[in-house]
Amino acid sequence: MPSLLVLNGPNLNLFGTRQPEIYGSTTLADIETLCRDTAASLGYEIAFEQSNHEGVLIDHIQAAKGVHAGIAFNAAAYTHTSVALYDALVSVELPTVEVHASNVHAREPFRHKSFIAAASIGVIAGFGAQSYALAIRALAEHLK
Ligand code: DQA
Repeated sequence: MPSLLVLNGPNLNLFGTRQPEIYGSTTLADIETLCRDTAASLGYEIAFEQSNHEGVLIDHIQAAKGVHAGIAFNAAAYTHTSVALYDALVSVELPTVEVHASNVHAREPFRHKSFIAAASIGVIAGFGAQSYALAIRALAEHLK
């Protein structure tokens, strides 16, 4: 079965308890289940990873080439800062969807800048855990 990488950046392990007024009460484990179920319904399996470390995220992106058909990527705060993650994404040339649980464009101005968007086929933000399901659907459509 073809597979997708769902990659999560710093502090996303705290989903469920972190700023629930912004991110809700859904945990990262709940999101993983949602991703697995959504992907399976579309004929994909997933690898689901989270790291608080930029270099580890880069390692996951580099290792995805030839293994995964695409990436759903919530780079969290690194979205707004990381040229290195942008470089990793353009290097592997895998279709990537940028994901955010919150609507970053309705938040602080520093969240309006994304280094990930320019290396992505699209961006989904603001739908909570459903942002991930929508990203997987978008990847599956793109890969048809
Ligand atoms: C986030 C939005 C980012 O601005 C923030 O740094 C996060 C989470 C989201 O999913 O809404 O950690 O990526």
